[in-house]
Amino acid sequence: MAETSSSVRGFAEAGADLSLVGVSKRFPGFTAIDDLFLDIPAGSFFALLGPSGCGKTTTLRLVAGLEEPTQGKILIGGKDVTNTTSYQRPVNTVFQSYALFPHMTILENVAFGLRRRRIADAEKLAKEALDLVELAHVASRKPSQLSGGQQQRVALARAVVNRPALLLLDEPLGALDLKLRRQMQLELKDIQSEVGLTFLHVTHDQEEAMTMADTVAVMNRGRIEQMGAPEALYELPTTSFVAAFLGQSNLFTGDVTDSSATTMTVGVAGVGIVVPLDRAQVHRGVVTVGVRPEKVTLHRQKPSGSNRTVIGPGRVTDASFSGVSTQYTVAVPGFGDVTVFAQNTSLGDHARPGDEVYLSWSPEHAFGLLDHPNVSSGKFVADTDTGSLVVAEREKLEAELEES
Ligand SMILES: Nc1ncnc2c1ncn2[C@@H]1O[C@H](COP(=O)(O)OP(=O)(O)O)[C@@H](O)[C@H]1O
Ligand SMILES: [Mg+2]
Repeated sequence: MAETSSSVRGFAEAGADLSLVGVSKRFPGFTAIDDLFLDIPAGSFFALLGPSGCGKTTTLRLVAGLEEPTQGKILIGGKDVTNTTSYQRPVNTVFQSYALFPHMTILENVAFGLRRRRIADAEKLAKEALDLVELAHVASRKPSQLSGGQQQRVALARAVVNRPALLLLDEPLGALDLKLRRQMQLELKDIQSEVGLTFLHVTHDQEEAMTMADTVAVMNRGRIEQMGAPEALYELPTTSFVAAFLGQSNLFTGDVTDSSATTMTVGVAGVGIVVPLDRAQVHRGVVTVGVRPEKVTLHRQKPSGSNRTVIGPGRVTDASFSGVSTQYTVAVPGFGDVTVFAQNTSLGDHARPGDEVYLSWSPEHAFGLLDHPNVSSGKFVADTDTGSLVVAEREKLEAELEES
């Protein structure tokens, strides 16, 4: 047993693939992870993004071997590790609490695990790891003499020094202030590309996930709702949860009234909203469509003769200036409150609360969702007008989806 353990754990030269195959974790009376499938290629920076309580930490604990799945398999580097102990897995974890030994120097902290495993050159390897996080100059200090950001980097060095095939990071930057967090995000990303290990990073911060990861999986209630490159997820969310959790979205619900070979038209309050078929998850029946606030343009007069989708007139109810852009809320009858981000590229002409405006966007920026906003959730208050349709039509749609 001990032999397997040291050989498996050894020094991975590169990252390994991680696969979760149909993994579930049920606690008494509660399903924390529900039939999870996940494939993370070796050497990638993968982020698991989701709100508090969605099952992120449980997923990491399952991968680390600190928790046993109720069902399913976990493979690291193609090897089934489901029934192995945490010591037998080539995995290290970095947490938010750094848990450095206060009586040891920084170098001793980083070398500790290596020494315990009687690895030759422990000190040399620890120094290299400290170099990597640019802390060689504080090697002889004690943890209490370092700032929070520095301590976090030591914790990272202590994990990376083991060359784990897979490094798990559970909201590691959560305790740092915003500015330091942004800086550490870029550093972590650099370190990951330098060492080439597989990073599985867990966060509830969408900006953090988008900045750092090659691939982001959005998790909701123990399931993955959507997975992909950050830009792809942002430009083409497929569920109302992803549309609202990753950035902001304007969502409208209506019937598909018409379709062509490449587009469909969704009728909302008498306006035909055109959506490309390849940007829509559902092509008939009641559909929720969306458009991101920065894709919407504000007009003083009704724009004519363009092939843009135009709604309005509506009334500006709020305008908040933030330097680079202004965020407007426009109440449009039949559409609810629509959010618009306008870049401050022109001088002077800003709309003010009370102004009457029209809104437009290019059909290729619209997207069609698989489901409908959850009207009971406070997140979708903007959608009350069209949202009321949803409750009645939801079951019908689900039945249709099952049929097809
Ligand atoms: N040991 C446990 N017993 C019962 N419920 C648990 C246990 N661990 C976690 N949970 C529940 O599982 C859900 C997911 O928890 P967690 O994975 O910690 O979420 P996250 O890290 O995404 O915030 C939560 O509702 C939590 O209360
Ligand atoms: Mg957690």
